[in-house]
Amino acid sequence: MRALLVDRSAPGGLRLGQAPDPAPAPNQALVRVTATSLNYGEVRHIIEESPDGSVLGWDAAGVVERAAADGSGPAEGTPVVTLAPDGAWAELRAVDTHRIGTVPQGADPGAISTVPVAGASALRALHRMGPILGKRVLVTGATGGTGRYAVQLARMGGAHVTASTGNPAAHGDGLRALGAHEVVSDPAESATVDGVVDLVGGGQLVAAHDRLAEGGTLVAVGHLTGEGENFPFGALFGAPERHDRTIATFFLLRCTGLAPDLTWLAERIATGDLDPQVSWRGAWDRAPEAIEALLGRTLHGKAVLEIG
Ligand SMILES: NC(=O)c1ccc[n+]([C@@H]2O[C@H](COP(=O)([O-])OP(=O)(O)OC[C@H]3O[C@@H](n4cnc5c(N)ncnc54)[C@H](OP(=O)(O)O)[C@@H]3O)[C@@H](O)[C@H]2O)c1
Repeated sequence: MRALLVDRSAPGGLRLGQAPDPAPAPNQALVRVTATSLNYGEVRHIIEESPDGSVLGWDAAGVVERAAADGSGPAEGTPVVTLAPDGAWAELRAVDTHRIGTVPQGADPGAISTVPVAGASALRALHRMGPILGKRVLVTGATGGTGRYAVQLARMGGAHVTASTGNPAAHGDGLRALGAHEVVSDPAESATVDGVVDLVGGGQLVAAHDRLAEGGTLVAVGHLTGEGENFPFGALFGAPERHDRTIATFFLLRCTGLAPDLTWLAERIATGDLDPQVSWRGAWDRAPEAIEALLGRTLHGKAVLEIG
């Protein structure tokens, strides 16, 4: 099969080449991939950390070529959306069936391919807060792939949404169109909130935690700045009326129960209830171009590669 292979001498660290077809385990379906979306974590860290010749990629949409031998998961010919630690940037991938969602017939695979990491992480982060109907939610790094899903899903869940971006002049209108009630340039400017989806980390996490009300939860999803989190003395016990606050973390690739989330998100995209915010789309041999834009912060939203 053809695949994007790690090659440090190539632009973006990837080149299109040949790799052996994957051999699915009994609990894995073989999927013919038609589209993949790129995520900050994999292009910033995983390419760098993987040996030359590796086939990487977390998100893929496609069609089941061969159902899992153990009878689990969708049947041959089913359009699917998939998540795995590697193998998405290839014509074929083998995926554990508990990480496969089904997709309505006729849905755009490019749009659907944005669901696994960005959509499912945003959904999982909001679930960690408990019910958000009538609550206030702050999203930091809101212009990114995950942030744009978090803003839409928080609004859909009935929250009052504050979005934080480094550039409100450029992105404020777009974030309000997605459902944000307010847009701020720093979490410190936010009113008190009941929940935070933090995609940035470092000083922004510390500032966002300071905005949490009693009983609130900050879900630390992203760590874009590469900075540590230095809390001033008192920040974690705070005033007596704000003792009960939670900081939660998760790593999506270690989460269970993903298939229903992937299916639900794919349905919302197919119906138009969610906008995947695809801001770059092209053939997979243009991957280096998309990676440069993503890492250079000139691409806000999702980058989609069409496979094959
Ligand atoms: N825990 C998990 O399982 C999990 C799952 C998904 C994502 N993540 C993490 O969440 C973070 C966001 O992922 P993503 O895919 O949404 O990223 P993305 O699409 O690249 O978006 C990141 C956004 O954050 C803002 N930002 C602020 N400070 C930044 C900085 N120093 N460097 C780069 N961007 C900065 C940028 O917006 P402005 O330019 O408008 O400020 C950018 O639009 C990443 O750290 C990723 O690894 C973790």
